[in-house]
This record gives sequence, structure tokens and C-alpha cells, in this order.
Amino acid sequence: MQGLEITGAKTNNSSLLSWINMVAGLTKPERIYICDGSDGEYRSLCDDLVASGTFIRLNQEKRPNSFLSRSDPRDVARTESRTFICSLNKADAGPTNNWINPADMEAKLTHLFDGCMRGRTMYVIPFSMGPLGSHIAHIGVEISDSAYVAVNMRIMTRMGQAVLDVMGDDGHFVKCLHSVGAPLAPGEKDVPWPCNPENLYITHFPEERAVYSFGSGYGGNALLSKKCFALRIASVMAEDEGWLAEHMLILGVENPEGERTYVAGAFPSACGKTNFAMLVPPKGFEGWKVFTVGDDIAWIKPDEEGNLRAINPEAGFFGVAPGTSTKSNLNAMMTLTKNCIFTNVALTDDGDVWWEGMTDDPPAHLLDWQGQDWTPDCGRLAAHPNSRFTAPIQQCPTFDPEWDNPEGVPIRAFIFGARMSKHVPLVFQGFNWSHGVYLAATMASEATAAAEAGLSVRRDPMAMLPFCGYNMADYWNHWLNVGRHLANPPRIFRVNWFRKDENGKFMWPGFGENMRVLKWVVDRVRGRGYGVESPMGFMPRHQDIHWEGLVYDPDKFYELMSVDRQEAVKEARSHEELFDNFFDRLPKEFIYLRELFKSQVWRSPKVWELARAIF
Ligand code: OXD
Ligand code: MN
Repeated sequence: MQGLEITGAKTNNSSLLSWINMVAGLTKPERIYICDGSDGEYRSLCDDLVASGTFIRLNQEKRPNSFLSRSDPRDVARTESRTFICSLNKADAGPTNNWINPADMEAKLTHLFDGCMRGRTMYVIPFSMGPLGSHIAHIGVEISDSAYVAVNMRIMTRMGQAVLDVMGDDGHFVKCLHSVGAPLAPGEKDVPWPCNPENLYITHFPEERAVYSFGSGYGGNALLSKKCFALRIASVMAEDEGWLAEHMLILGVENPEGERTYVAGAFPSACGKTNFAMLVPPKGFEGWKVFTVGDDIAWIKPDEEGNLRAINPEAGFFGVAPGTSTKSNLNAMMTLTKNCIFTNVALTDDGDVWWEGMTDDPPAHLLDWQGQDWTPDCGRLAAHPNSRFTAPIQQCPTFDPEWDNPEGVPIRAFIFGARMSKHVPLVFQGFNWSHGVYLAATMASEATAAAEAGLSVRRDPMAMLPFCGYNMADYWNHWLNVGRHLANPPRIFRVNWFRKDENGKFMWPGFGENMRVLKWVVDRVRGRGYGVESPMGFMPRHQDIHWEGLVYDPDKFYELMSVDRQEAVKEARSHEELFDNFFDRLPKEFIYLRELFKSQVWRSPKVWELARAIF
């Protein structure tokens, strides 16, 4: 509202101040507060959240400075069906995005946002995606009426006064406006998790570089730095400016000789990305180390020498809790010992958290994610399948100080992985950049809890299906184009940790054992590893994988690597179905690569049916 006092951090940035005033005039909050990002501010916001019932303070001995939050059961996940790309032209959003004409959406949003912050504080949250001042980083400002969002943003981004200082008086920022959509009448008592699921809109205006989100307080719908800015808007910025904004983890592998190789990996949501980013090398890999730069998003830019260098724009993990244990991901469990926010997990009787898979035996009694009594035989899940932890990256034992290098880290390989119980081998390598892009573009994956229920298998090109802010065919063309200008294009691999045998059992042990695949990837990149040419790409033979510490039968390995020829034919046909959606924007290369794949499928039956014989 005109004239409302602005408290908190200081800025003279004229476009920010006029945006704040404009938003306040529309949304009519009670107070305006600019977050300074200090410890004191974090503590006091958390205290307020405890007082309002949004947070439960966990046992301070077991989980110091940590909190549990329970969402409204109608607000538990990213909502792809309510996520819109409002580009000027529908074709620019492409067939994989929901599109609404920007003028119509603006009218709708103006109506929804009118008075939506009544009775609430309007938090202005300045954040940097990436090291402050890095030429790969960008600044955003989220305005939100949720203190839960403000404290999560403090963990997930570099946030506060230092960002305003870098912005200066006329620095640019991406506008991210968020409201839970639940104004309070005078004297009305708030609920612990305000939201407005009947009027849910997560909207992106790529030409304006702006995000407007209404009605949800959860995760990627509300922490607008993450999927909305760092992927949907940033992917458009990246196409315009010649870089890549990707749904990728970044990790460094160091061998006992001290040679470190960075790779970036794209996996659909809840396919073990966080586990892979913090991998613990298994037996047989003594002296090897893994360093974590990021677990979800990578911004990647060509440097002057024609290499790709990547930063993690984020500062925290917003990871899926169920399944995380000291066995599956010791480093994550160690990251979660303090200073964390847990959302929709269960509460133990001694004030700690629990989720399915954390321990072999569940506790005898819990309060479930909705606060109801829970016992192991009650037939309900204790934690929501998409329950999350928000944790500072610096607490991770494998944290790589290179995370803060403004120049980023050099990327030598891209790994694209999906969850496929059948037909997709453990690992294979694209023949070259364009073939690798093709392999990434045609990736399919089985559904997980992070996405809404839908098709059981869906194409998820580059794991970017819900996150690419523009026409996916233009995005593929952009990838091909980036590769054309690199002196040292990273090698491109596909992996699948999730193949099952005919009894439905996972064939590959996964977790730390994925190091064996990672080593082959590094060997290939460094020119040391052998790969057999198959119709899918280069593949390791049994003897090309480092097996010390694990007995893995060659027959089983070749079964894990095999592809049924009839299935490969079906696969090639279904690539055509995928491509048909994109008409004239489809990269011409893809048409030829598909033909090549089809013709290769008929080559050398032994590759398919008797893989071992040719190896
Ligand atoms: C995530 C997701 O939360 O991909 O990272 O859904
Ligand atoms: Mn993700």
C-alpha cells in the first residue's frame, strides 16, 4: 500500500523499490519486510513460525535448530497441471507445456492478487542464484506472503543484504511474486498451512522474465528460485544468451592419484539424484573421493577455451526424504543432523523425525505427516511419499568448496538417467555430441511421487519435461548448437540403475555401486576406457568395469546390458511419435539419427540376443 513502511534490509534499487510499491498496492499486505539473510532474522522467523503453529521445533539435542512442518494435505507436491508458460506465442511454449495467453493470464492474476496479502507480512526476498557476482549467476527477488518460504529460501539460496549490495542502485533482477492466496480478515486466526488449492496458478512469463505463483505454499510451487526461475525462466535466458540451464546434479570424482573429473547428471525427480550427488565409493574404491557441487540444478556456460563450466545456482538441498537412510545415503543423513526444515515427515515420540526407509524397523509409535497417531500396523504411510528436507549444502560431508567458485567447474561428461524397469541397459555412451543429445532427448522414465499421478512411463527429455520454459524442439536445437561451438564437448552417457529381472527384483545394487559406472564414464572421458560399438552407443564389456569388492556375474551383467530387438524396434517407432509433436521445429539431425538407429537395430543380431558372444 502506498506509504506502508518498509523494514528490514536496505536498498536504493529504484526498479526494486517501485516493484515493491506496485505489488504492495495490489496485494495490500499489513507489513513489508525486506529479508537481510542474517542468523538473527532466521531465528526470529522460525520462532514466529513455531508460535503460529506452522513449525514444530524438533528435539534440540537430537536435531538442533531444526523444525517440522505439516502442509495442508491438498498441497503436497509440485502441480504440473497448474503450471503455465505464458509466452506471447503459443508455439514458443511448445506442445509439452500448458499455455495461456499472457494478457488473459495477467487479467486473471491481477484479480487473484488483488488484496491477497491482507493481514499478512509481505516478505521481500533478494537472492543470488550462484556465487555472488559470478558472470554465470543471476539475481532474483521473490516477494511472498509466507514466512515458511522466506526461511526455506534462506537455506536454498544465497539470500539477503549482500545480494542487494551486489544489485546496487540499478542492477537487474528476475521478478518472482508468490502468494499463498489466503488473506486474513481483521482478527481472523491463521491456519498452520494457509493455501488456496482451488485457485492454483504457477505461471511464467518468459519474455518478461517473471514468475507469478498463487495458491500453494509447497516446494517448487512456492520456492520460486528453484524450478520456476532456475529452470523454466533460466532455460529461456540460456537459449537467448548461449548457455544451458539444466535439471542436473554436479559432482566431482577424484581418483587416488588426485585427478578430479566433474560430471553433470540429469535424472527425473525422485530417481536418486541426491544419492548419486553424494555417492559413497564402495569397497574396492579405496582412495577415491566424490565431491558434491549440487544435487538438482546446473547452470552451464562455455568458457573462452571452448569448455563447458558449471555452477550450482542453489545453496541447499530440497530432497525427497523417504528412502533416505544411513545405508542408502550416509552423507545426506549426516547433512540432516542440524539446521534443517522437514516437511510432511513423521514425528517420533522423542521429538525427532522419521520416514519410510530411514530404519529397518519403524518406531512403535509416531505422529504421521498429518499429525495423526501412527503405528506400524495401521496401514497408512507415516511420511508423505513426497515429504522433503531442506538442508544447507555446506553441511554435506562431501561438500565441494568449488561450489563457490564464480568460474564454475569444468564439465567433462553428461549423464542422463531414467527409471526403467525393462529394456534400458545399465550404461551406454553416445557416439558423439548430436547422438548424445538424441539419447537424452528420447529418454523415458517411470512415474514417481514427485510428479502428479499420470502415465506410468513418460518421455522426459533431458529430465526437463516439467521444467523447460520453451518449445522442447527449440531446446534440442539449442543443445545441438551449443555443442557446435565447443572445443571439448563433454561426452554424453545414458544410465539406468532401476532395471528389474523377471521376478521384479532390481538387477543392479545401485547406490555406492554406481561408482563402478562412474569410473567407466571417467575412463572414457579421459581416453582410458574401452567401449564396444553397439546400435545404442558405446558399451562397456564386463572386463571394462572395475569389479573389485563386488562379485557380479558376467551373465547377469550382459543381461543387464541387453536390449530385446523387438523392443528396440518399438522404441524407434515411438521416437517418431514423440517427434511428430514438434513439426517443423524438430532438429533435422534427429530425423537422420532415428533412421540410423532403425537401421542399426537390424544389424548384428548377436549384439541384441547374444550380447556376450560379441563381447
Ligand atoms: C525436485 C523435483 O523437487 O525434481 O527436485 O521435483
Ligand atoms: Mn529436481
